[in-house]
Amino acid sequence: MCGIVGYIGNSDATPALLSGLARLEYRGYDSAGISILSGGKIATTKRAGKLGVLVEALKKKPLPAGKVGIGHTRWATHGSPVDRNAHPHIDPEEKVAIIHNGIIENYQVLKEELERLGHYFSSDTDSEVVAHLLGIEYGKSADLTDAMERVCQRLHGNFSLVAIAIDSPGVLIGARRNSPLVVGLGQGENFLASDVSAFISFTKRALEIGQNQVVTLTADSCSISDFNGVTQSPREFQVTWDASAAEKNGFPHFMAKEIMEQPKAVADCLLGRMDENGHLTLNEVRLSDDEIRDIDKVIIIGCGSAYHAGMIAKYGIEHWSRLPVEVELASEFRYRDPIITRNTLVIAISQSGETMDTLMALRHAKDQRAKVISICNTYGASIPRESDGVIYTQAGPEIAVASTKAFLTQIVAAYLVGLYIAEIRGIKFIDEVRDILEELGELPEKIERYLETSERLKDLALEFKSAQSILFLGRHVGFPVALEGALKLKELAYMHAVGFAAGELKHGPIALIEEGTPVLVIMPNLNSPLHDKMVSNVQEIEARGARAIIITAENDTSITSPRAIRIPDAPTLFQPLLAVLPLQLFAYESAVVRGYDVDQPRNLAKSVTVE
Ligand code: AGP
Ligand code: GLU
Repeated sequence: MCGIVGYIGNSDATPALLSGLARLEYRGYDSAGISILSGGKIATTKRAGKLGVLVEALKKKPLPAGKVGIGHTRWATHGSPVDRNAHPHIDPEEKVAIIHNGIIENYQVLKEELERLGHYFSSDTDSEVVAHLLGIEYGKSADLTDAMERVCQRLHGNFSLVAIAIDSPGVLIGARRNSPLVVGLGQGENFLASDVSAFISFTKRALEIGQNQVVTLTADSCSISDFNGVTQSPREFQVTWDASAAEKNGFPHFMAKEIMEQPKAVADCLLGRMDENGHLTLNEVRLSDDEIRDIDKVIIIGCGSAYHAGMIAKYGIEHWSRLPVEVELASEFRYRDPIITRNTLVIAISQSGETMDTLMALRHAKDQRAKVISICNTYGASIPRESDGVIYTQAGPEIAVASTKAFLTQIVAAYLVGLYIAEIRGIKFIDEVRDILEELGELPEKIERYLETSERLKDLALEFKSAQSILFLGRHVGFPVALEGALKLKELAYMHAVGFAAGELKHGPIALIEEGTPVLVIMPNLNSPLHDKMVSNVQEIEARGARAIIITAENDTSITSPRAIRIPDAPTLFQPLLAVLPLQLFAYESAVVRGYDVDQPRNLAKSVTVE
C-alpha cells in the first residue's frame, strides 16, 4: 500500500518528490526514501519512520541535485520497517534503483535463482528482486523500457514500479499490474505517482495507465506499451479538484477537517441526481432498464467502513426495491463459492477504489457474469474502471486514514442505487422517490446543526480515557452504526471496542458488563417498534453497573439520562448519517486525549492494496 512518486524535468527532483510523498503518506508511513540520479550515479537516502525522519536526514545531509528521481513511503508487507528495508532498492552493481507498491508473489523463487547466480540481498523485502532483475536485463540491452518489460513478464502478484538507471539520465520508467499508477503531464516535466494528489500542485493533466503496461517518460514525452512492447494509447483526464482540497485548511488534523466537511460532502453526493422531470438519474450506472428489471438479487461487498456502509444500505435497498440484499466482506466473498448469476447485481463499495480485497471480489463476480457497479470516491481508480457502472460519491479527497465523509456518502450513494432500482422496477412511483429524496436533501443541514454543537465529546473522551473496554449497542440500522463506532475507536484510540446488536446482549455479551463499563447506545427513533426494546436493554446493562451514553433524537423526551447525546431527528433509514457523527468525534477526541496520531494510526494505511 505504499505511496510512490517519480519526477523527471528541468528542476531539482528532491523538492518535487518530497512534496509528492507528503501527499501520499496516507498510503503508508513506516519508512520513506528517495533516490536521485546525479553525476552518473544514484544517490539514495532512506529511513525507517515517518516522512519527517527522512526530511530531517536530508536537511542534515542533502542529496546532490538531479533532474530525475524516485520517492517512496512504505507500508511494509515483507520485512520489518527498518532502514535497510525502506525503498528505493538498488541492484548490486548500483546501475538501477526501483520503488515498488504491491507484493511480488514469486519473489522467493526469483530470489533463490538470483542467489544461485551469486547475488547478495541487502533487505528482507520482496521488492528487492525487481532491482536485481532489472539490473541484469538492463545490462543486456541498455534499453530501460525493454528491460522493464522483460522483468514484468517474470513477476507474479501485484505491482506498480518506478525505476531510474544511471546510463539513462533522461528517462523515468514505470509499470503496473493491479496496483495503481498515474502519469502527471507538466510543462517540461512529468510525474509518475500512486495517485494524482502527489503532483496536483504541479499539473492537473493526467494519464491513466492500464493493466500490464509499461510507461516511459522523458521531461517532455510519454509513451506506453504492454509487457510485450506493443504500443498502447492511454486515456488523458483532467483532475477536477485543486491542491487546497488536500490541505488541512487550519484544522489540527485531516480527520477534523473531513468530519466538518460532511454536510457539504453529503450535499455534493446528491448533486445532479435528478433530471428536469424529477426522475432520479444515475447515468453512470450504465445498465439498461431491462437489465435492471431482470435483477433478482443484490450483493454488496466492501471492507471496513465501506462494509458497514453496505450493511446500512441493505435496509434501504431491500425496503425500497423489494430485492433481497446480501452484504459480505470482500475478503471472504470469493472464497465461499457464492451463488451468482447474470441477474445478480454486485455493488462494490470503496473510497479509494484500490482496495485489493474488493477488487478481487469484483473480478470474481464479473467472471461469474454478474452485473457490477461500484460506489467510489476516487476518479479513475481500478475498481470503478473495472465495473459496468460507477456512482462517484463526490466527497472530495479523504486523507485521514479513518473514513468519515466517505462513509456517509457511501450510504447516500447506495441508497440512491436502491431508489433508482425501485423506480425502474415500478415498485416506487416517481413522486414517492422524490419525497424520499427531499427528506434525504434535509440531511446536510441536520448534519451541520449537530456538528456545530458537538463540544461534549471531548469531555466524554477524557472521562473514558482509561477504560479497559468500550461497548457499542445498536438495533436495525443502528447495529452497523455500532460496528462503525467500535471500528473508529479501535483504529484511532487503540482501545478495545466492540459493537453488538442489542438483541444479542442476553445471548452472551452482557457477561462483559461490569461496574463502570462504558456503553454507547444508538437509540432507535421514538416511533420505531424497537425503541422500547432498546430502553429495556439500557435498563438491563445499567442494572449491572454499565455507564450508558445514549445517542438519541433531540425530540425523544422519553430519554432523560444526563448522559444523552442529542442528534437531530430523521427518518429511521437516515438516522445512521447522524448517529455516527458523535461516534466519529468520540474516537477522534479519544485519540487526541490519549496522544495518538489521529491521521495516521499505527499499523494502518489509507489504501489497502494487498490482500
Ligand atoms: C475506515 O476508517 C478504515 N480505515 C477502513 O476500514 C476502510 O474503510 C477500508 O480499508 C476500506 O477502504 P476503501 O473504502 O478505500 O475500500
Ligand atoms: N512489498 C513491498 C514491501 O514490503 C511493498 C509494500 C506495499 O506496497 O505495501 O516493501
